[in-house]
Amino acid sequence: MALKEIALALVALLGSAALGDALRCNCTNCEKTGYECETDGACMASTYYIQGKEQHVRICINRDNLVPPGQPFYCLSAEGLLNTHCCYLDYCNSIEVPVPTKDWSGSGSSWGPVELVAVIAGPVFLLCVLLMVGVFLFQYHQRAYSHRQRLEVEDPSCDHLYLAKDKTLQDLIYDMSTSGSGSGLPLFVQRTVARTIVLQEIIGKGRFGEVWRGKWRGGDVAVKIFSSREERSWFREAEIYQTIMLRHENILGFIAADNKDNGTWTQLWLVSDYHEHGSLFDYLNRYSVTIEGMIKLALSAASGLAHLHMEILGTQGKPGIAHRDLKSKNILVKKNGMCAIADLGLAVRHESITDTIDIAPNQRVGTKRYMAPEVLDETINMKHFDSFKCADIYALGLVYWEIARRCNAGGIHEEYQLPYYDLVPSDPSIEEMRKLVCDQKLRPNVPNWWQSYESLRVMGKIMRECWYANGAARLTALRIKKTLSQLSVEEDVKM
Ligand SMILES: *[C@@H]1O[C@H](CO)[C@@H](O)[C@H](O)[C@H]1NC(C)=O
Repeated sequence: MALKEIALALVALLGSAALGDALRCNCTNCEKTGYECETDGACMASTYYIQGKEQHVRICINRDNLVPPGQPFYCLSAEGLLNTHCCYLDYCNSIEVPVPTKDWSGSGSSWGPVELVAVIAGPVFLLCVLLMVGVFLFQYHQRAYSHRQRLEVEDPSCDHLYLAKDKTLQDLIYDMSTSGSGSGLPLFVQRTVARTIVLQEIIGKGRFGEVWRGKWRGGDVAVKIFSSREERSWFREAEIYQTIMLRHENILGFIAADNKDNGTWTQLWLVSDYHEHGSLFDYLNRYSVTIEGMIKLALSAASGLAHLHMEILGTQGKPGIAHRDLKSKNILVKKNGMCAIADLGLAVRHESITDTIDIAPNQRVGTKRYMAPEVLDETINMKHFDSFKCADIYALGLVYWEIARRCNAGGIHEEYQLPYYDLVPSDPSIEEMRKLVCDQKLRPNVPNWWQSYESLRVMGKIMRECWYANGAARLTALRIKKTLSQLSVEEDVKM
């Protein structure tokens, strides 16, 4: 399993780009695969002399053997002995590397045994020294950047430092966010935390696996356990949560990702903050909310979504992220009555420099009931990142409708219902949703009596502006956040 873990670490190092094609090279000793090999590193071609014979070798060099970076040992030439060429394009090592400069094949060589020893031992000695320096530098480099890399550096001394007995998770996360990485705990700390969690009870089930409440040093944590079939989802969600600068009070706090191999299968864990209220869906089913409670929920959800959507430029910046599966079941309610957006497994990130999206977005993911009209009828422009943000806003509008119905104003409130509860069956098909939302252009009902309460009137107006058929016409998360902030001031809501 170690290989698998290294592979995972490498994929993480390379970012999602590595999920794409591997490099193909010519390979002189790969009869089985048609003298070809695949690698995540480099192609190498080398010519050298052994016992007076010219040898040609073409091989793949895996990325983890490309050390030290910039001048890998495997790519070095040694004058008179070995001529090596590394390259990074498909079949680029198909070339003939010129023979080493000094003539070793000639039988009339004037080299005596002493010179021979000197010439061979010299470069070998140099290579050894280089290797040692290189390994040292590499390890040093690794340690310095271990917090950003997913390599498994299990250094007990560092572990000790981070995990001093009296530290709580809050302390750890605080240490981490002030030490500048801003994306998550160092990997070995994540692992140590994950492996000392005691699972308590199951609190949910989903298509990916199960969610458990666990204990770590007396505090509660939530553990999402993916089935081994869902390795990609686990990896993707961990990857998104570790996006630099993602931490925000209205986005579920990520603690650790761990893949535990117990011999027969791999357990994939994602550890996060635990919120006892559970999802917004559970919360609204159980309680009605006051006007103040409604504004808190709505404003905090908008703040979380605005942060997710926002691109922050600079080295300590964050890419824009679209959620793609926003719904009341994927939003958690914190003790203080605010929301935390969760379940980022389907999210996409925007790479603004190249104006591309970091994974190939498949057409229709997410929950059918919450799909925006352009997603349902497949007219969404997937090349344009903003389209995904607009689809999120449509779903946010539906969540607002769920919240507002439960708002207790003047003694009236309605029972909890899912959006479109009165128009589609419990597990609607895409076709049913499309007819309703695209063809008939129906939307959830905004009752007239909401007009008599300023907050409900504002909420109703926001919803309508989230539900336009034309995605580009919808409000932005930032706009909604501003409108609700203003409302919270007017209504004297303490956030
Ligand atoms: C390298 O591989 C390519 C593709 O399989 C092949 O066409 C080419 O002849 C190979 N080159 C050498 C020198 O073997």
